[in-house]
Amino acid sequence: MPTRAAPPVANLNPDHFERFVDALPIPPVAKPIGDTAAGTRERMPLYRIPMRAADVKLHRDLPATRVWTYGGSVPGPTLETRAGKPIAVDWVNDLPPRHFLPIDHTLHGAEKGTAEVRGIVHLHGGRTPPESDGYPEDWYVPGKSKTYTYPNEQDAALLWYHDHSMGVNRLNIYAGLFGLHIVRDAVEEALHLPSGKYEIPLSFFDRDLRPDGQLSYPVAADPENPWVPEAFGELHLVNGKIFPYLRVEPRKYRFRLLNAANGRFYRLSTSQGVEMKQIGTDQGLLAAPVSVPYLQLAPGERADVVIDFSRHRGARVLLNSDALVLMQFRVGEQRIADPSELPSTLRALPRLAESAAMLTRRLTLDENMSGKGESQGMLLNKTPWHAPITEKPVLGTTEIWELVNLTEDVHPIHLHMVKFQILDRRPFESFQYMTQGTLRYLADASPPDANEMGWKDTARVNSSTVTRIIVPFHGYAGRYVWHCHILEHEDNEMMRPYEIVKA
Ligand code: C2O
Ligand code: CU
Ligand code: CU
Repeated sequence: MPTRAAPPVANLNPDHFERFVDALPIPPVAKPIGDTAAGTRERMPLYRIPMRAADVKLHRDLPATRVWTYGGSVPGPTLETRAGKPIAVDWVNDLPPRHFLPIDHTLHGAEKGTAEVRGIVHLHGGRTPPESDGYPEDWYVPGKSKTYTYPNEQDAALLWYHDHSMGVNRLNIYAGLFGLHIVRDAVEEALHLPSGKYEIPLSFFDRDLRPDGQLSYPVAADPENPWVPEAFGELHLVNGKIFPYLRVEPRKYRFRLLNAANGRFYRLSTSQGVEMKQIGTDQGLLAAPVSVPYLQLAPGERADVVIDFSRHRGARVLLNSDALVLMQFRVGEQRIADPSELPSTLRALPRLAESAAMLTRRLTLDENMSGKGESQGMLLNKTPWHAPITEKPVLGTTEIWELVNLTEDVHPIHLHMVKFQILDRRPFESFQYMTQGTLRYLADASPPDANEMGWKDTARVNSSTVTRIIVPFHGYAGRYVWHCHILEHEDNEMMRPYEIVKA
């Protein structure tokens, strides 16, 4: 592992901040600027969202912090959409000419001579045609733009859009380039879940700030190779504020959670025995609510949660991640009517049978060792990004991917375009696999957690464990990517193209 350089001055730590002095911001909802011109394509609402620098207050007692945004806020404006109703977004690169975070020119796609400032937007969880998916090498420079089409032909779910530029993706997202995209449908509406001002998005991410309040991204000791294997910030933001509070009424709320951190895993819990019920996962509703005393969210994962505050009038409830405090709910005193519902069944959600798969692929997650036995990052299937495509599922077929984790880390693995189900996880003897290439299991397979039983697009793959996912490749043919969602890994070769081919 590269040695970490100490920052020249100590970064701010959480003790520096007075807690719960800022109200939780809610990202603005994006408004269309009009319709796409008829003739060229189906007519649909057109949005225009610029990527641009902005100075934002992350806490009452901080000066403004320079960030990069979509549309001026972090998270950017929320795209509110409906299943089956396409939209188009003109993503305009209006970023400044120079980057302000440490680029590593030894990384693939970020070589010296490559434009420093580049953007390309990917809709995470979107069933998107390949030409609008934000292929990492399709980045463009300030002054350029691309209009992407999102068909939204998928179930109601919380998706998110973020930068995907080759070799600088971790820096661009750290700078602030992400936002939410909500798909709604009739199935969800029929449930009468809490909605309107009782449905609140919560995006969690961690950052380091220098004493002057500016973003600090960790660097390794070698200035020619500043890449670090993970970036954990000491400060935790919810919707872009440090230690925010939210006033809630004593009734049910629906929270749409996103882990937007580069590498941090959150394990959320509430204080005072307030119950969290998870009703949905990355790709929409679960079959039934699941009570979650602790809710794990890996980078890139989402959760849909209902909290009923009705029995906690007047309480100050904390939302924690292990020992960290993230935010506070201030529950009102005044009893109020709550017409919303939390049905005990949410939707039909058949589990896919293994027999539906026509192919099983075994794919490893590897530590990339140098000749000197030092880790140089991670790989998928021991294959760097630029090698020819090896995974070519046939459109309309189903496959099982056995993800064999030979590293010591948990990696959240994400596939573009598709949704999948987790079949199981099973520990194995990794030394034997590395030396002899044979799988010796150490225990029985365990099913996914109750709150992972729905449709996913990002799954935790634990160390020395085989995680099996079953993936219907339905949607579009074309070239996509799959990768680890720890952004430092993704930027350093833990990403591969794959191609869905026509039958
Ligand atoms: Cu959040 Cu390639 O994805
Ligand atoms: Cu994605
Ligand atoms: Cu990883």
